[in-house]
Amino acid sequence: MLNWPSHGSNPQHLFKSMGLSLPEMFIDFSANINPLGPPTALKEKWNDFYQEITVYPDPFAENLKNRIAESEQTSVNSILIGNGGAELITLVARFLSGKRVVVVEPSFSEYEKACRANKCEIQYHQLLEPNFELSIDELLPTLSSADALFLCNPNNPTGIQYPVSTVISIIQECEKQNCFVILDEAFYDFLKDYQSFIPYINKFSNLIIIRSMTKMFAIPGLRLGYLAAAPDIIAALRPLQPHWSINTIALLAGELCLQNKEFMNETQVYISEERERLFTFFKKNKFVITSSQVNFYLLRDPNLQEQISFFEFLLLKGIIPRHTFNFPGLEGNWLRFAIKSKEENSKLMEVLLEWRQLH
Ligand SMILES: Cc1ncc(COP(=O)(O)O)c(C=O)c1O
Repeated sequence: MLNWPSHGSNPQHLFKSMGLSLPEMFIDFSANINPLGPPTALKEKWNDFYQEITVYPDPFAENLKNRIAESEQTSVNSILIGNGGAELITLVARFLSGKRVVVVEPSFSEYEKACRANKCEIQYHQLLEPNFELSIDELLPTLSSADALFLCNPNNPTGIQYPVSTVISIIQECEKQNCFVILDEAFYDFLKDYQSFIPYINKFSNLIIIRSMTKMFAIPGLRLGYLAAAPDIIAALRPLQPHWSINTIALLAGELCLQNKEFMNETQVYISEERERLFTFFKKNKFVITSSQVNFYLLRDPNLQEQISFFEFLLLKGIIPRHTFNFPGLEGNWLRFAIKSKEENSKLMEVLLEWRQLH
């Protein structure tokens, strides 16, 4: 059994664990970052940001918090800024220390990892391939003894968005049973018509929403995200966070990025057109995909039971998908790809055609 890397990106770790050498030329499809890169305004301001590194960041992130509260039309006391969505997941897990947690799987592995580190008892609610449908009736029995539920929407790794009515019913049911719902919306902004659940934090005292700013604005190296919940939850989480957790440049970059609504629209249109182009090709060439609505998707070759030979073929051709060995329920039987530039996506299709000619 290989020691598979637990996340995408940093492909050197994947190659090392497989005993392969990293090709000179490769395309990394394993991290779901906006292929348009960061907004140009960020580059233009970069030199000005340099001046700011000699001062400590605002530990309360007031400016960015105000801007988010304004754009999400919520109270500033309902927002907590984090060093990426990942830090906020860790804080929530600490808040849930020792509790019983249900994770809707397959999903982002940090929920389980962070909760395990805080001695939570974990139970999976497994969604089944190929459609990964979420049914409240099937979920309900699992919730009866749970203190918290982690749900990612749109979900990583499938890219599937759950129906709004299902998510609302789940939050309602959980509230009746004193169970928190942690709704991770790290990829919500890749969807044009995503209905935000932030307005529901005023209605449901058990709802915690986590958002990442590193994907849409292509700043995973800077680290930035935020959490929205009722003020008493924010007040309980805040003392668990290191004092200067978010660096000055990330805070300034976040303010700038949020002003770029046009950039978000442009990304959404680009992603949906490219997804259409790719999916048409996959269907024509008999690859199975999930009905993703965002900037990544799962794919498999239905001619194979195990996808490992297909995975290795792609790696040797310099195409790096994300393996799925550490997603419960997938067990390596799918590969996840990010939607990249047109040229990179075309290269992927070219290599897939080569594979199809052989198999
Ligand atoms: C579903 C999901 N949530 C949260 C994160 C964390 O994002 P970040 O810490 O880069 O903001 C990721 C990163 O891949 C993710 O896929």
